[in-house]
Amino acid sequence: MVQASAPGKCILFGEHAVVYGQPAVAVAIDQRMSVGLEPSDVWRIDGMRFDPSRHPHVEALKQRLWKDGPPLAIKIHGDIPPASGLGSSAALSVAASAALRCARGRQIKDDDWAEGWTAASPEDAYSGPWELKKGDFVEVGAKAVDVDECAILAHAVEATAQGGRASPLDSSVCAHGGCIVLSDKIENDLNWIYSRSLNGVSWEVHSVELPKSTEDVWLVIGNTGIHAPTSQQVAYVASLIEEHPDRIREIETIGIISRRGITALVEGNMENVGRAMSENHLMLRNLGISCPELESLISAAAPSSLGVKLTGAGGGGCMIALTRNPKETSEAIELAGGRTLISRIAAQGMTVDFEGESTLWNPFE
Ligand code: PMV
Repeated sequence: MVQASAPGKCILFGEHAVVYGQPAVAVAIDQRMSVGLEPSDVWRIDGMRFDPSRHPHVEALKQRLWKDGPPLAIKIHGDIPPASGLGSSAALSVAASAALRCARGRQIKDDDWAEGWTAASPEDAYSGPWELKKGDFVEVGAKAVDVDECAILAHAVEATAQGGRASPLDSSVCAHGGCIVLSDKIENDLNWIYSRSLNGVSWEVHSVELPKSTEDVWLVIGNTGIHAPTSQQVAYVASLIEEHPDRIREIETIGIISRRGITALVEGNMENVGRAMSENHLMLRNLGISCPELESLISAAAPSSLGVKLTGAGGGGCMIALTRNPKETSEAIELAGGRTLISRIAAQGMTVDFEGESTLWNPFE
């Protein structure tokens, strides 16, 4: 049995503005998706016959990493609610990439990878089939797994499943964990990790080292249970700016607030982080992407929190509250009709475990 898991995410600052090049900040949450693999007579997911149309991310990864491999029984479980802006599909894709890579090993020749990812663009991140050379050394188990590779594979399959449009924010934070900042330029003072580009858009991806004081606060996530497609929300903001070009100033203001939020995070000044979150929400509300249900959860959480805002695309989905009193904040949100999850800020990234034999297919034999 090979098993891998990856965290979900929520956006602390900069949703929507990131589409216009401003920085966005996301953190990994405690809720995770895990993917287990076992040899099987036929392809199965959770005991049922595998239906590629129901699992487009898994199917896309199977095509890249397991094309001629033997059938597997795949077990998926987790506590990230789907389609709520918490990164469930990216977490699933990262965990599935890690599990498949662990299960197939990696060919090594002359101390270097003989196959694997190479490019900064998810379009050709893993362009196999590689020319398999019998006898080359195969690295097995968790050593064959690479975080950056899982991040780029997850980005690639998210883009495939979403018709070619996906930023690398979810895939990066679900793979690396912690706190990730995406921007259209390299941000001074942050730890730049890589560039990504897709369909003519480029992003610079950074990680942020968070100080100890971020461990004394919690995020309470309140889910409205309303599903508003991200594409619709993004299109709404685009048409607003097209009709009223001066409103790009609000987008730029969100960028300024995000940068202030990043500084406060790095300093560990959680009061200022909360203040920046609430200001970010006011800008998002002015843009018209909140909704009455989000507003009522946000009002309920505000008195016991350092900061409150919607997170992700808006129009439904989730809000977050930064709080030192997670129980009180969670109860207030539930009383107002939301379903809650509690998380620390910046959870661990992907992990891989296996019991017994890790190699379920050696394509190099
Ligand atoms: O809720 P999510 O994870 O789909 O967040 C969407 C974030 C947006 O900025 C609204 C869109 C995007 O592509 O960045």
